[in-house]
Amino acid sequence: MQEIRNKVLTTIVSRITLSLFHLRYAEFVNKSESEVTGMNTQFTSESRVGDAVAVFPKASDLFKANRIDFCCGGNKTIEEATKDKSVSINELLFTLNSLYSQYTASENEQNWNEASFSAIIDHIVHTHHSYLNEELPQLSPYVTKVFRVHGQHQSHLALVHSLYHHLKTELEQHTIKEEVSIFPLIMEYEQNPTPENLAKATAALDELESEHDQAGSIIKQLREITFDFTPPEGACRTYQMVYKRLEELESDLFQHVHLENNILFKRLSAL
Ligand SMILES: [Fe+2]
Ligand SMILES: [Fe+2]
Repeated sequence: MQEIRNKVLTTIVSRITLSLFHLRYAEFVNKSESEVTGMNTQFTSESRVGDAVAVFPKASDLFKANRIDFCCGGNKTIEEATKDKSVSINELLFTLNSLYSQYTASENEQNWNEASFSAIIDHIVHTHHSYLNEELPQLSPYVTKVFRVHGQHQSHLALVHSLYHHLKTELEQHTIKEEVSIFPLIMEYEQNPTPENLAKATAALDELESEHDQAGSIIKQLREITFDFTPPEGACRTYQMVYKRLEELESDLFQHVHLENNILFKRLSAL
């Protein structure tokens, strides 16, 4: 898992470097970037962040590397989302369009916008819900242990402990609600697409999105109080492992909520 993430980050960094070179070169020769690279400009400053990830899933890696929230903040335009970030909008757009050109050239990525609702649900349940079912209870005793051992000298660990367990309860109840009550209604609508079944399938989507916002807000607080999941110098292995796994939890949650908010629920709401 770590190895794959490192490879993805290395690829992004090298592509950002190449993209910056193209951008500077384009400015130098007074041409547009597309003239220099032959690249499509699919995304603009007005494109919405969530839509970009829906069309091009790998955009999530780029957004994440630049601390841009693409799930709960998916309705923001790229211009709005880059306002308070260190990356410039031109650099981000150039890299995004460059990566997208390479993606369309390969065309081997799953396009969730064209997948059936049941295929999306199957993927969510077997990838993201099963990850949470395993990880939330497994990480819990380590979060408690780090608080017990280091809490006296690291006062924020009490808040890490309570926020984590609040998040755990929220996500456990939320995923059970989706699997037991909501997803079956969506699959029923797909089998039998009547207006009545659509009304039933979409009735609770606002409630689910509001629960996503709550979970997003808790993980954001966890990131803030842990200084971007950076353990203190000399931290023990358990401390380091807890922070690393909290960051992985954030990463999986972003992808999970994106698939629900910006693809599954959005497609249903548009019917
Ligand atoms: Fe879910
Ligand atoms: Fe959800």
